[in-house]
Order: sequence, then structure tokens, then C-alpha cells
Amino acid sequence: MVLFRGGLDAARRVLEQHFGHPRFRIHQLKVLGPLLSGRNVLAVLPTGAGKSLCYQVPALLGDGLTLVVSPLISLMQDQVGALRRRGIAAAYVNSQLDAKQRRVVLDAGVNGQLSLLYCAPERLASLTRRLRAADTRLSLFAIDEAHCISEWGNEFRPVYRRLGVFRSLLGGPPTIALTGSATPAARSDILRVLRIPDAEVVVTSFDRPNLAFLTKQVGDDRERFALIRARVRSAAGASLIYTPTRRLTELVTRALLRTSIRAAPYHAGLSAGIRRRVLRAFLSNQVNVIVATSAFGMGRASDCLVLWRREDFSWGNIAPAMRRYIETRQCRRRMLLEYFGERCGDCTGCDVCDSRHR
Ligand SMILES: Nc1ncnc2c1ncn2[C@@H]1O[C@H](COP(=O)(O)OP(=O)(O)OP(=O)(O)O)[C@@H](O)[C@H]1O
Ligand SMILES: [Mg+2]
Ligand SMILES: [Zn+2]
Repeated sequence: MVLFRGGLDAARRVLEQHFGHPRFRIHQLKVLGPLLSGRNVLAVLPTGAGKSLCYQVPALLGDGLTLVVSPLISLMQDQVGALRRRGIAAAYVNSQLDAKQRRVVLDAGVNGQLSLLYCAPERLASLTRRLRAADTRLSLFAIDEAHCISEWGNEFRPVYRRLGVFRSLLGGPPTIALTGSATPAARSDILRVLRIPDAEVVVTSFDRPNLAFLTKQVGDDRERFALIRARVRSAAGASLIYTPTRRLTELVTRALLRTSIRAAPYHAGLSAGIRRRVLRAFLSNQVNVIVATSAFGMGRASDCLVLWRREDFSWGNIAPAMRRYIETRQCRRRMLLEYFGERCGDCTGCDVCDSRHR
């Protein structure tokens, strides 16, 4: 049985003709090779690696519908909009559509008029019923942001635990799960939930040679702030300061502004408009310090400095792994990479390996 017409050669033609890229990236080939030859795949590739094309291209090679499970409405809208601009038949069902709009989309899906149908996991139960009733074959079942499946991930949503059930009800179609990060425990969890134990797992390295990993103990919060201020002042480039709560991003920003440092906060509680403005100001160097919760990152050469004090460990929710990271006598890079199930080569900078950082 041929699942995807034409294999990698056809995939290259689709990439060029529909998406305008001359060639696949190496890790995309590592995913597409097994997938196109009929294996299920779990792809753990960093942000920006090009995971979307790993299911969008096969979608155009199969002769049925590709169903994409995506956790965020905004992501779905962006992707479907971009696909349609390229002339590809794509649509989504989520809570933003009313019953009539949903029916139109589902009709198109079961009548073979769509290549890709995106859905929120909460829609899967009714969608599965409809697809089964119409005897619709899926040529591919894709789960984007698959870390949501795992209790080991940090954006856990319970409905994701049932994805494997829906997959079985849909006849066990070829399956690809994709995520930007998953520890070995999370990976096996994802495979178990999806019921694809022998899937090919494609993982690229999490090492970031441009980052040096340092920690420094402080006695109290005054000292912590004094150190932040001193480092920000002496930094050659921009600085990112991560804090555990939204409130703290605001407090630290205000304290920095009082000492005439051009800082701005960044967290999920700010409106999209404000976040965009902050990002723009940062990229154009009008602001050179961002005080953020997680989910704000960059690719520049940087020191990643944890300023900690004993009392921080009494927080109920501090991860034991974080404590081990701080207290380790071993290479910090090695520890980070081992956390993600990787072996470490030469360390390109941490305060254990390199005395210049101490
Ligand atoms: N083979 C390719 N050649 C050139 N550009 C590519 C290729 N594949 C993907 N891209 C581009 O890379 C960018 C990132 O792709 P994509 O959004 O799929 O990444 P991602 O891995 O899903 O990241 P995230 O984890 O943030 O969701 C897009 O602008 C896409 O057009
Ligand atoms: Mg993506
Ligand atoms: Zn090291």
C-alpha cells in the first residue's frame, strides 16, 4: 500500500512548488524519510526548525485528509491563512466557529475537498464521530505541540491523554507528533498515549554553544537586585531577566527604570499589542533590558546566570531538577543536556568548567 505518492522526490517538488523553498533542512529529511515510508514519527526539533512542513508537505502527497491537532487557536488561524494564500485547501474547526460554519468545514472535510483540517483537541470527539460516519480515511494524523500530551510537560491539558483513543477509532492512520522540547520521560509518555510504541523518534541536540551557564548565590533580594543592575550596566549587549511571576517582572522593571535603565516587562498577562510594542522597542534597541516570565528567548551569545539564595528552595513549586542544577559540581551544560537525554561533547562555557566565569 502506497501511503504517500512519490516519496521524497515528490516531497521536494511540493516543497519547491507550493512553499517556495529549494531544499529540506537535514532534520526535516530525518523526519520525512521514515514518515513517507510508512513509519510513525515523533519529532523533537527546536523552535523555528520547520516542524510544520513535516506534516504539511506529506499532506499534499497523501490521497486522504490530514488532520492536525493544535492547542492554540491563533496558531491554527495563522497556519490555515498561510496555507490558503498558497492555494492549499485547508480549514480549521474550533470554538470560534458557530454550528453552521462548523458544518460547512466538516462537509468539506468528509467530501474530500480539504487537504488539511486543523482542530483543537476538544473538537476531536465530535469530529471523530463525523469522520467515522462518513467513512473518511485519514492519510495522516498530526499532533503539533505534542508536549501538551505529557504530564511531564508544562502545558498539560487532560483531553490530550485521549488522543490515542481517537487515533484508534480513526483506524490507526499514519501519525506524526511534533514538539520543540520533551525529556526522555515525556517522549515515552507521548508514544504511550498515542499508542505508537515503535515510532521513529527524531531528536536534534539541545546544546546551544552560544550560551554559557553560570550560577551565583546571593544573601538576600537587595544583593540580587544590585547584581542584576551591575550586570545589566556592564553588559555589552541586551539583557533578559527571567522571574518566576508576572508580578515580579513588573516590580523588577520598575526598580530598573528608577535607576535609569531602559527596561520593559514581558509576560502573558500583557495584551498582544503591548507585547508587540515591547518586542519592537527591544529589537530596535530603544529598550535594552526585558524582564520576562518564561517563553521569551533569543539566539545571541549570552551568559545564562541564575542568581539564587537558599530561601528560594523553600518555594513549594521549585523543581528538584533546578536545585540539582544549581548545586552540581559537574559541568552545567552536561547536566542540562543529560536532562534532555543527550551526551555532552566539549563544554563551550559554564562556571564549573571555565574559571573565567566564576
Ligand atoms: N526547508 C526549508 N527551507 C527554508 N525555510 C524553511 C524550511 N522549512 C521551514 N522553513 C521556515 O522556517 C520557519 C519556521 O518554521 P515552523 O514555524 O514550521 O517552525 P517550528 O519548528 O514549527 O517552530 P515552533 O517550535 O516555534 O512551532 C518558517 O518561516 C518556515 O517557512
Ligand atoms: Mg510549530
Ligand atoms: Zn561546562
